[in-house]
Amino acid sequence: MAKKGKVKVGIIGSRFEADIHAESFRLMPDEAEVVAVASPTPGNAAKLAEKYDIPRVFTDYQEMLREKDIEMVTITAPNALHAQMTVDIAKAGKHVVCEKPLCMTLEEADLMIDTCERQGVLLMYAEELFFTPKYVKAKEMADQGAFGKVYLVKQSEKHFGPHAEWFWDVDRSGGGVFMDMGCHGIAFCHWFLGRPHIKNVYCQMGTYVHGDKTEGEDNSICVIEFAEGAVGMIEDSWARRGGMDDCIEIYGDGGVTYADLHMGNALPTFSEHGYGYAVEKAPTTKGWTYPVFEELWNYGFPQEMHHFARCVRGKDEPEVTGEDGRIVQEVLYAGYQSAGTGRKIPLPFRPKGVKRPIDLWQNPVT
Ligand SMILES: NC(=O)c1ccc[n+]([C@@H]2O[C@H](COP(=O)([O-])OP(=O)(O)OC[C@H]3O[C@@H](n4cnc5c(N)ncnc54)[C@H](O)[C@@H]3O)[C@@H](O)[C@H]2O)c1
Repeated sequence: MAKKGKVKVGIIGSRFEADIHAESFRLMPDEAEVVAVASPTPGNAAKLAEKYDIPRVFTDYQEMLREKDIEMVTITAPNALHAQMTVDIAKAGKHVVCEKPLCMTLEEADLMIDTCERQGVLLMYAEELFFTPKYVKAKEMADQGAFGKVYLVKQSEKHFGPHAEWFWDVDRSGGGVFMDMGCHGIAFCHWFLGRPHIKNVYCQMGTYVHGDKTEGEDNSICVIEFAEGAVGMIEDSWARRGGMDDCIEIYGDGGVTYADLHMGNALPTFSEHGYGYAVEKAPTTKGWTYPVFEELWNYGFPQEMHHFARCVRGKDEPEVTGEDGRIVQEVLYAGYQSAGTGRKIPLPFRPKGVKRPIDLWQNPVT
């Protein structure tokens, strides 16, 4: 018999994104409740549990998967762990919410999708830009014909580099900023245009500021040519000072719209003394700053988790799945290959045996 009541959720991981998931479920509590958290560093999971009143704490996520009442597990661990965790969660008969990027390799993407299908569980890909209210509004207007035929969709995300050390280690992250944030823009442009076939990918990237810390690229520009004539342009940076910047621009033969995720929701502020918190990754709160309010809501995280819980109850059909993550993964491969060869890469592009997408930049396949 179909289950009723709130979906019981377990979170894997207990730091940055885990906090966002826990807070998101707290903000929209009618469909789901977080009942457990699992994370290996002693004390970290307990800290998150205390902050959000989560009753069960584990240091080994496998133990959490043995809890019978948990129906959905969200993965907020480093990228290199997503595939194995997804397989383990699916085999435990629980639905999966996997953070972006889906995984490291296309073989992993295939395995994740196949395993979830075989186990009869949902694989939901946590791309919050599909739920970001401003961006959803832009898509609604485009779908109503506001801009005529859309020929260019731009998305960019920039800051001065990630908060945790594993992002800089390409063995655990798979690549630099293109892997970390380009995945948002690729998914966004594809979704915004109604998921057309992707013809070609062209990409330029470099390590301009953080070469002492990482082999990964800290700035990337990607152009995607879609089958029906539109172009996606995705700019990402870990080299941009001044805090987070996340914007879209939509151009059609009949109109245009611009959306700046943070600035339109910010209070232009000057402070001699500083204050608690301005916006994600802002380096200071002194001088001129642009503090945001309702930050998670403006990103769409609570709406995203709410939707995923409704999918588990059969009230919604997943709007973003492992298939979206797999397409993003293929474009990531093509982008790194393009940056490595200086050429446009036509899709399909599925070289076998790649260990980390960034390897295609450093050693393109012939
Ligand atoms: N959607 C977004 O905008 C967004 C933003 C930030 C991060 N992310 C994604 O979320 C994931 C986590 O990033 P983060 O910023 O939270 O990193 P983080 O370093 O802040 O947290 C990672 C967590 O994973 C846990 N972990 C590590 N190994 C583990 C294991 N074997 N078992 C269980 N837990 C383990 C760590 O203990 C830690 O709690 C990444 O895939 C990242 O790309 C997404």
